[in-house]
Amino acid sequence: MSDVMNDPVYKTEALIAEDIDQYLETHQHKTMLRFITCGSVDDGKSTLIGRLLYDSKMIFEDQLAALESDSKRVGTQGQEIDFALLVDGLAAEREQGITIDVAYRFFNTEKRKFIVADCPGHEQYTRNMVTGASTADLAVILIDARKGVLIQTRRHSFLCHLIGIKNIVLAVNKMDLVDYDQATFDAIVAEYAAFAKEIGIESFTAIPISGFKGDNITTAPSENTPWYSGPSLVEHLESVEVRSSLDAEGYFRMPVQWVNRPNLDFRGFSGLISNGTVKPGDAVRVLPSGKTSTVKSVVTFDGDLEEAVAGQSVTLTLEDEIDCSRGNVLAAADAPPEVADQFEATIVWMADEAMHVGRGYWLKLATQTVSATVQQPKYEIDVNSLEHLAAKTLELNQIGVAEIITDKPLVFEPYADSRTLGGFILVDKITNATVAAGMLNFSLRRSQNIHWQPTDITRESHAGLKNQTPRVLWFTGLSGSGKSTIANEVEKKLALMNRHTFLLDGDNIRHGLNKDLGFTEADRIENIRRIGEVAKLMVDAGLIVLTAFISPFRAERQMVREMIPDGEFIEIFVDTPLEVAEERDVKGLYKKAREGKLKNFTGIDSPYEPPVEPDIVVNTVEMTPEEAADHIIRKILPLK
Ligand code: ADX
Repeated sequence: MSDVMNDPVYKTEALIAEDIDQYLETHQHKTMLRFITCGSVDDGKSTLIGRLLYDSKMIFEDQLAALESDSKRVGTQGQEIDFALLVDGLAAEREQGITIDVAYRFFNTEKRKFIVADCPGHEQYTRNMVTGASTADLAVILIDARKGVLIQTRRHSFLCHLIGIKNIVLAVNKMDLVDYDQATFDAIVAEYAAFAKEIGIESFTAIPISGFKGDNITTAPSENTPWYSGPSLVEHLESVEVRSSLDAEGYFRMPVQWVNRPNLDFRGFSGLISNGTVKPGDAVRVLPSGKTSTVKSVVTFDGDLEEAVAGQSVTLTLEDEIDCSRGNVLAAADAPPEVADQFEATIVWMADEAMHVGRGYWLKLATQTVSATVQQPKYEIDVNSLEHLAAKTLELNQIGVAEIITDKPLVFEPYADSRTLGGFILVDKITNATVAAGMLNFSLRRSQNIHWQPTDITRESHAGLKNQTPRVLWFTGLSGSGKSTIANEVEKKLALMNRHTFLLDGDNIRHGLNKDLGFTEADRIENIRRIGEVAKLMVDAGLIVLTAFISPFRAERQMVREMIPDGEFIEIFVDTPLEVAEERDVKGLYKKAREGKLKNFTGIDSPYEPPVEPDIVVNTVEMTPEEAADHIIRKILPLK
């Protein structure tokens, strides 16, 4: 990578590619083709790209500099200029500042502008490839004519197809080294065609080339391949019809980026039109609410438009005052996208840490952000053999199909129909890192016939009858730290004060409700999820709920905090050092764990993540359980 980094026209941030793209769109009026080159170094990828740049004789070094200062200026205008606005689907990861290396190069010819994403070819770079491919219109799959279709050719093709790239070029390179032999070329094309059909690639364009010698790069046919009657690579790149993900043909869709309200007289909804066209008088629907209105005006910096199309960023004003905010989608009133909260999705895992089944991640799709959990994968797809394998989770660079459940309804379309409304990323809630990219395949019907049933005796009535403010007192700490003992003391004291309480204790719940769960990470996550749900029901019933579970992971404690209304979740860290808990070893479990007779024991061979900002800390080395309980009561008492 080092020579790449020293090259001024190589930029590793996808962000810059977007800046350039926008710059070119506004300052020149040629169409843009984004493509990705797939192949390993040996296939002659660098030579080919070098040749394309050299032959096109255009590199935008000075424009790059202008652009960088341009975007800095624009970016500091205070207004939320969000790059997700300008791009589609998976590219929302830019907001996350993801640092996956994808090198972008820029060049242009008489007819077109090009952005090439050059992604490393090895299997361990699957995530880079997916990142690069997510915005590409076309993929050049390089093959070494001496080697033919390799496992990596299949992997690259599969990924490009998965990501939805419709235009595939099979560049059979190094033809000079096989004496420009037509039979060799034909055999490779036939083999690839059979494979392509198998995975659903409908068509591709095969070109015999030599990146090194220049055959069929800019003009065709080369005198060395008189038998070839197709276009040169550049001719093809210049003329191929770009079936962009921003599709002017489809029904109107615009994910709302922000509500533009400079003064009381103006209220507009700003965003990038991802599909279709829009003009004043059009009936539109706000999703997920379903409310309808009519477009009053289509506003831009350069004045009002009579009509705007996919790819344009606009502000729409409506005839009616209806609720609409960031994350909503404005759509053609009579052909709206779907709304659902359960899906089947294909997921590419991009983080070093494996996926946690059942854990809540942020799911970002277009301008929407919701909390989502992924179920155990139905299967993993072997990227080389394309076989479906059984899987418990997904690890770095693995691809799988799994069900996803979101906490709020999501406005979406299947990825096959819309990259913008079908592509998403998953973000770790604690580290804020992008951990996966995914594609929604379809929604699960089962979620659609279940509606929340409002009841007349509300949570407020329940609490009022008990004359108390419901709370969850969430104790967390190592096994043997004293959680149950202290929680028990606290509950007794509360009972004496006429408070209505209930204590949920780890060991007890594992005898009944959570009998089926063990101590793997996935089971612990599910354990806490269920307890969270039970605690939520109990606070709705007006109770003060005390829970005593190790609850070793920050993410799940955070998840429960988010489930419970603001301020009603109180995290109490029973801060007993491991040595002390182990020394006490009330249940003799530490001894067993040390002897290797008990696996996945918290603190020994399974992690405990202490709270970063607990609401209350009790130190059981300095305090007796009774004192700890008093300390807690003093802290929560003002809360009634
Ligand atoms: S949690 O990690 O899922 O929150 P929970 O609090 O329900 O754990 O259960 C912990 C209790 O189970 C411990 O206090 C201990 O008595 C018992 N236990 C049995 N095996 C393990 C283990 N491998 N790790 C931790 N606790 C265990």
